[in-house]
Amino acid sequence: MFMDNYINNLLFTYLPHIAMTLFWFGVITRIVKTSKSLQAESSQFLSKKGQRWGGNLFHYGIILVFIGHFMGLFTPEHFYHLFMTTATKKILAVIMGSVFGTAAVVGITILLVRRLKDQRIRINSSIADILLIALLLFEMGLGLISVAISAGSSVENYAALGEWAQKVITFQPDAGVVIAGHSLIYKLHIVTGLFIFMIFPYTKLMHMFVMPLAYFFRSGYQLVRRGFTKRPA
Ligand code: HEM
Repeated sequence: MFMDNYINNLLFTYLPHIAMTLFWFGVITRIVKTSKSLQAESSQFLSKKGQRWGGNLFHYGIILVFIGHFMGLFTPEHFYHLFMTTATKKILAVIMGSVFGTAAVVGITILLVRRLKDQRIRINSSIADILLIALLLFEMGLGLISVAISAGSSVENYAALGEWAQKVITFQPDAGVVIAGHSLIYKLHIVTGLFIFMIFPYTKLMHMFVMPLAYFFRSGYQLVRRGFTKRPA
């Protein structure tokens, strides 16, 4: 029993802080030190098949899943109670989570099959590329099972997830206790999620930080590569 409490506390009170510290440390040092190597390499020029459907379903799905995680976990109860009850919020989370989560899983499955089956892409993929997709797929599978568990359990069980996340970000020492009795699937999903945050800076997930926003504000200059222009003698 003591050991159970100890491990639970370690994983759900302390690990989130360790993981987020490593995440920000890694993100900042990589941007400052190696910003030229952050872009994820495109494979679209190798094969277009599956890239459009897989890429779009995955990216739109996962972006909406993340917005859902953020709003679902961090909106304080007294704030959302101005608009809806916890029961309504749970129904919304289950419906939106299932739809966008399924879109993301279908999308990434198409991308994984494409990467493994297409010879040209396979040869140009590193082990890290394939492992990362497999890890994300595993994590999203756990997420979808978590939603199914939420759908079939009490409103209190669902509400505790937000309570836990809010206790973590406000440094409450009893955060982990709130979800101590929750299903192993939620816990595996959270620990795997934290692991993904920890390795994030050293993977191609870093491409999220290199949106080419500058292009929208350029003043209409044409890019000319210096190396190819002939200088007058
Ligand atoms: C430590 C960070 C994370 C936490 C605390 C967390 C928490 C949760 C929880 C509590 C649910 C169930 C929501 C419900 O019952 O309504 C869920 C679902 C889900 N999670 Fe996570 N998650 C984390 C990271 C991730 C990551 C990194 C991914 C993707 C790579 C992911 C993908 C999903 C998906 C696809 C679902 C199902 C759809 C949804 O509810 O949005 N999660 N997550």
